[in-house]
Amino acid sequence: MMNPKSDSVHSAGQTKFEFAIAILAAGKGTRLKSRRPKVLHQIAGKTLLSHVVAAASRIVPAEHIFAIIGHEAELVREALQSSGIQFVLQREQRGTGHALMAAREALQGFSHVLVLSGDVPLIHPETIQRVRDFHIANQAAMTVLTAEPADPTGYGRVFRKFKNDESTDEVDRIVEQKALRNNEGEEREINSGIYAFAVAPLYTHIDQLTTDNPTGEFYLTDMAGVLGKSGNKVVALRAEDSNEVLGVNTRMELAELDAKLRAKKTRELMIAGTTIFRPETCDIDSDVEIGTDTVIEPFVQIIGQTKIGSDCRIRSYSVITNCEIGDKVLVRPSCIMENSIVREGAQIGPYSHLRPGSDVGEGAHVGNFVETKKTKLGRGSKANHLSYLGDAVIGEGVNIGAGTITCNYDGVNKHETVIEDGVFVGSDSTLVAPVRLGKGAYIGAGSCITDEVPADALAIGRGRQVNKPNWAAEKRKQLKSAKKA
Ligand code: UD1
Ligand code: CA
Repeated sequence: MMNPKSDSVHSAGQTKFEFAIAILAAGKGTRLKSRRPKVLHQIAGKTLLSHVVAAASRIVPAEHIFAIIGHEAELVREALQSSGIQFVLQREQRGTGHALMAAREALQGFSHVLVLSGDVPLIHPETIQRVRDFHIANQAAMTVLTAEPADPTGYGRVFRKFKNDESTDEVDRIVEQKALRNNEGEEREINSGIYAFAVAPLYTHIDQLTTDNPTGEFYLTDMAGVLGKSGNKVVALRAEDSNEVLGVNTRMELAELDAKLRAKKTRELMIAGTTIFRPETCDIDSDVEIGTDTVIEPFVQIIGQTKIGSDCRIRSYSVITNCEIGDKVLVRPSCIMENSIVREGAQIGPYSHLRPGSDVGEGAHVGNFVETKKTKLGRGSKANHLSYLGDAVIGEGVNIGAGTITCNYDGVNKHETVIEDGVFVGSDSTLVAPVRLGKGAYIGAGSCITDEVPADALAIGRGRQVNKPNWAAEKRKQLKSAKKA
């Protein structure tokens, strides 16, 4: 049922696709006070619009989804390019009704259109499906998805028709918050901004919309009255969960929805067998995967496409972005890791910084204040303290002493350091790339290595130590008598 297949129907001699989805995304988002278009603001690590597109893509194929864009249209188009959806330009943003006027041509090949809002991002595909089924079952010209949230303030209110003192499925009118009169504000049923329309009656009557309202815009909501008056059926369907249709108009609402999505994500992970302590303090993006019996401590951020295996422990204050982490990995507190691989049984931190392209081998250790970039650290190798390892290929069982630095950059180009299996690099060595340390070699502490070191050799590259007996005592004496004089 949820297969996004394109079923076409035969009507009036021409074949039409049954359903298109239009997503209203042209508005400026004035209430966010942002330079960026509203629909590109993010919750749970993804733009509002891509949350809506993800839900829509479960119902119809991407090429039947039309995002109506206008404000900063090019930015929005660029951000959604890879999704395969289509775009309709609404040059001036004169209201939600005007947005659908702009889509008239694009929708001609369809019998019906489901309208979603780019700023109502929590909508479930199942609910869109319910709107579609209800719309078809009622043979309606317009179906409105409604809800009864705890606080209806700010939303348009839906007034149903009554029959024998009972409210029916049919809608009389939708009234925007600003236009509410007398006691209309007591109505709790709100318009979610999600609709289904039969395309033919929509475009036969859409030009009857007027801008005769407090904001001087064409309201799509007025189609309820317009279609009703011309004898078309307009029905309302209540959402089972009002949380799904919450809109984002302000930064406060953005934060609230972000929190809701992240709470949902941690709940799903915990149900599937991940331990998360103080989940309300953790930020885990929706696409993250974590295995069973992994423990996530408080105040951890796991971002983007990160995958974490089983039996790991991620200690507090770590920020992990787009990483692949194997089983039984320990990440100690305060590590920053990005676009990196950490293999089974490795230990990272505290305070390690894995920059993009780091690959930490099985059972390897990266310790405090160690920074790696485009560096492969082989199985069981250790870099435990205060090092920079960039553009390096490091073999197995290597010991990188405290304070080792790969000098990978000559001011213009980056060069590679190769450290073969079993090498011991003494503390505070600088390895000036390009350079190779042969298998089993030994580097004396404090060396500056500029030339290849043969396998199993000892390399020492430092000035010889000179002791000058009694020099310090003499110096102090001199300084004291100079001060008296
Ligand atoms: C709208 C509804 C309101 C409903 C609420 C639900 C209208 C008139 N009101 O109000 O009844 O309760 O959504 O969230 O429709 N947009 C365009 N082009 C425009 C104007 C807006 O594409 O010219 C887009 C916006 O980018 C946004 C969506 O339409 O994604 C809704 O617009 P917005 O201004 O947020 O409407 P609300 O005031 O929230
Ligand atoms: Ca809105």
